[in-house]
Amino acid sequence: MLKHRARLQAELARLKVWKKVNRNEDLLVPVPGVSPGMWQAPQVPRYVRVNTLKTSVEEVIDYFKRQGYAYLGKATSMKDLCSLSEKQFLLDLHLPDLLIFHPQLDFHKNYLYMAGHIVLQDKASCLPAFLLNPSLGSHVIDACAAPGNKTSHLAAILKNKGQIFAFDLDIMRLTTMSTMLVRAGATCYELANQDFLTVDPYDPKYREVKYILLDPSCSGSGMVNRLPGPEGPPSLERLQALAGFQRKVLTRALRFPGVQRLVYSTCSVHREENEDVVRDVLQEYGAAFRLVNVLPSWPQRGLATFLGSEYCLRASPEETLTNGFFIAVLERKPEGDDAASSSILPVEAEASAASAEASAASAAPAAAAAAASTVASAPAVAAAPATKTAKDLGN
Ligand SMILES: C[S@@+](CC[C@H](N)C(=O)[O-])C[C@H]1O[C@@H](n2cnc3c(N)ncnc32)[C@H](O)[C@@H]1O
Repeated sequence: MLKHRARLQAELARLKVWKKVNRNEDLLVPVPGVSPGMWQAPQVPRYVRVNTLKTSVEEVIDYFKRQGYAYLGKATSMKDLCSLSEKQFLLDLHLPDLLIFHPQLDFHKNYLYMAGHIVLQDKASCLPAFLLNPSLGSHVIDACAAPGNKTSHLAAILKNKGQIFAFDLDIMRLTTMSTMLVRAGATCYELANQDFLTVDPYDPKYREVKYILLDPSCSGSGMVNRLPGPEGPPSLERLQALAGFQRKVLTRALRFPGVQRLVYSTCSVHREENEDVVRDVLQEYGAAFRLVNVLPSWPQRGLATFLGSEYCLRASPEETLTNGFFIAVLERKPEGDDAASSSILPVEAEASAASAEASAASAAPAAAAAAASTVASAPAVAAAPATKTAKDLGN
């Protein structure tokens, strides 16, 4: 610690400049309705996803109880999370396979982690596979997949019954991913070290692909524990280059003839990489695809930059006690149908969300249920060149 003191102080100073604050304590953002003494965002809880390919939620709860942790049941509001002690844990209110612990805990050396029974994955990062919700036996593409946390989650949802085609440009990250997937007990996947932009949507191999998860390279600006690099926050030019790549890759994904449902996600907080990308691509593909109004009770919605943007989800340490994240779910319109979609989430998720909404007096206000609205069609956009400098966070 002492050895790194100067470097740590320099990083702290840089963080304060970046966040435009003078005092260390100003880096802590108070959570509305949470009294002093409780831990506060931007600390986020330690989320533990149970790998249901190897074990069950009940078995993992029993294991932690035997380790001396007290299980408090299913969370009902954000406030429950903020008052967790280091010896208590909860079940998440939205995701049925997610446990929540105190932020200071680290389970990287825990037996369950090393044996692949649990995955240490932020809640926001668990949403894309959960919201894609592929049916058993279906074919799925994970277009920018490494290091594979979302691929292993997809395999768990599929119960290894189906086929995941996972692509990534980076061979080192794919190697790590391969080890991780073996440890997780996933078997229903095929890895390809290939630029997704070169994959032929009309290749008969992908004829049965109905689901696509697209989590492309982004600025990573939503990651809580990531300090800004020497270059500071991303410039507008860099954001535009990233957005150009993201538009291209999303456009490519929508060209697969059998795709019915697609999740687009980033761990960026910048609208250029999020709402703007979705808006631009829907201007081109709005006749065939529409946004799905997912998790209506989720407190943080897409920025109001276009009609229907409230169907998108945002996440942040302050409002959802997670890393900063963005998610849009698109589905193919049935022929001749121009109406906006209502949620087609698993019943369990909707029931959880509804009960959380009813009981979460202290949580941020629930999103207004979106009225039927369609995303207008507009002229096609020109795709900008892909960037090769994107930060690729395995989140
Ligand atoms: C945000 S990371 C994906 C994290 C991953 N989904 C997970 O949950 O573990 C983005 C990934 O996209 C990959 N990538 C970037 N450009 C790509 C392209 N043109 N084709 C395929 N993969 C690409 C990067 O190498 C990186 O591993």
